[in-house]
Amino acid sequence: MILDTLLWPTGSFWTSAGLGLGLVLVAYTAASTIVSWHRLRHIPGPPGVGFSKWWMLRKTLGGNMHLATKAACREYGPLVRLGPNQLVTNDPEVLRRIWAVRSPYKKGPFYEAVRFNPERDNLISLRNDTLHAELRAKMANGYGGKDNEGLEAVMDKEILVFVDLIERKYISTATEYRPVDLARKVQYLTLDVITALAFSKRFGYTEQDEDMYSYIKITEDSMPVMMFLSIFPWLAKVLQSRVFRRLLPSEHDHVGFGRFIAVAKQIVGERLASDQPKRRDMLGSFLAHGLTREEAEGETLLQIIAGSDTTATALRTTLLYLMSSPATYRRLTREIRSAAAAGRISHAVATDAEARELPYLQAVIKEGMRINPPVAGTMDVVVPEGGDMICGYPVPAGTEIGCSEFGVQSLASVFGPDADVFRPERWLEAEADAQGGSEQGIERLRQMNLTWGLIFKAGKWQCLGKEVALIELNKVFVELLRRFDFTLVNASKPWHSINAGIFIQSGLYTKITRAEPL
Ligand code: HEM
Ligand SMILES: *[C@@H]1O[C@H](CO)[C@@H](O)[C@H](O)[C@H]1NC(C)=O
Ligand SMILES: *[C@@H]1O[C@H](CO)[C@@H](O)[C@H](O)[C@H]1NC(C)=O
Ligand SMILES: *[C@@H]1O[C@H](CO)[C@@H](O)[C@H](O)[C@H]1NC(C)=O
Repeated sequence: MILDTLLWPTGSFWTSAGLGLGLVLVAYTAASTIVSWHRLRHIPGPPGVGFSKWWMLRKTLGGNMHLATKAACREYGPLVRLGPNQLVTNDPEVLRRIWAVRSPYKKGPFYEAVRFNPERDNLISLRNDTLHAELRAKMANGYGGKDNEGLEAVMDKEILVFVDLIERKYISTATEYRPVDLARKVQYLTLDVITALAFSKRFGYTEQDEDMYSYIKITEDSMPVMMFLSIFPWLAKVLQSRVFRRLLPSEHDHVGFGRFIAVAKQIVGERLASDQPKRRDMLGSFLAHGLTREEAEGETLLQIIAGSDTTATALRTTLLYLMSSPATYRRLTREIRSAAAAGRISHAVATDAEARELPYLQAVIKEGMRINPPVAGTMDVVVPEGGDMICGYPVPAGTEIGCSEFGVQSLASVFGPDADVFRPERWLEAEADAQGGSEQGIERLRQMNLTWGLIFKAGKWQCLGKEVALIELNKVFVELLRRFDFTLVNASKPWHSINAGIFIQSGLYTKITRAEPL
């Protein structure tokens, strides 16, 4: 009776109608949950993932999605279900096929969350393939370095400013201890390098030795929001709507990302107003190839993000693993210092070509990026009309499928049984086998190379900055390790690293001393 009166207090028409509607909604939600669970029920995955995005949300907000997908692929196989409509794979062949230039796969809704500037798309957030290909073609020359005169000379200058910073402030001696958070400092360097290359004007992070405009801090602080949006992309659309836009970065901000939007606008404006709009840097190349003012502003901004965090992560991780692998550290420093002593590398800053002649350095750089790929978001794409057959499972159209980059780069079938270990020698061994001329050896090295390449994605979405990044890594490692020695301060807690697609890393405390003579 009591329940009855609670449920039907007055028996009025509106109450019943409201309840009826509620029941219909509940039934509808239940039915659609079951339907979406049913669609991909044949694909294995952690318990409960077919019903909600809870698993994805938990792992993403914990900053560990990259490790969770790696573990899931090891437990359930090369194709794993992660959500009602989400799959992930660590199969290099599948990834190369679905990312290929002529692949009918399209970028998933996740990309709504990487618009950075709410007012317009950039090359990464652009989901329309036709428009993406057009824009990409106009930018390829600028990134390829063909239009970027003296790319190496520009980098050399920034690297010497960085070396000078260490010399001035962070050399420890027998009497003085000057620990430094290298995680932060190398990002100053990569920010200066990319801005110098992009528009011939470094931001000056290294000279100032501080986080100007609080860019790094604010980017780090806003990451949890970005991570949340990457799981619920429709929220990104809501945030980018006129009503909520005030909450997002804007060019009127004095700090953080908004400040960069304003700087990008100002620099493009100045360039267009000057009598030499075709200066030979990346921006000059973009404008020469027909990017509009708005496009140029957006892409300048994208470069700073795409080019600085990623390269910084590659530097940090490799330095960390070097410092914690004494044999590797010794072998690499010996290679670099004896090449310098023998005059095989330039006196001021090594050229890219000289660094490429150092086989162990090349192996270390590859291994450092393999052990911690700098971009480890799942980068979901959507299965095209007609569906697809993936790893032996039929997958219906509209399903989102992402990449477990940590899963890919730790495949024992490609990199050997100790794939989880940082061991640059594996590359030299594979190269020696291939040079021995055995078919098997050549094929194995080819698979290692191709799989490693996926760190930069591939095909129509391959990183445009790959060559620039590799040149930078080559130079920086030679210049740091020929001059200095690095010792990890807190071996039990070497750094703080969380993944938000890209990595947020800090607290890599290091004691830097002058290099011991050979
Ligand atoms: C070690 C360093 C780097 C790594 C591992 C890396 C990795 C990646 C990955 C995985 C993507 C695909 C993103 C996606 O589609 O979801 C990408 C795209 C891109 N990267 Fe990099 N990147 C690095 C450095 C750079 C640098 C230094 C620049 C700029 C000079 C750059 C510019 C770009 C651009 C413009 C794209 C968009 C390409 C397109 O969508 O057509 N990257 N990068
Ligand atoms: C992509 O953009 C082109 C050119 O604006 C347009 O014709 C096409 O319909 C768009 N494609 C999609 C899938 O929206
Ligand atoms: C693998 O990559 C290296 C350069 O990183 C190259 O010298 C070698 O020829 C490649 N080998 C194969 C078989 O792809
Ligand atoms: C690591 O060492 C540095 C410098 O000696 C110190 O400031 C920092 O608090 C330490 N961090 C941790 C997590 O132990």
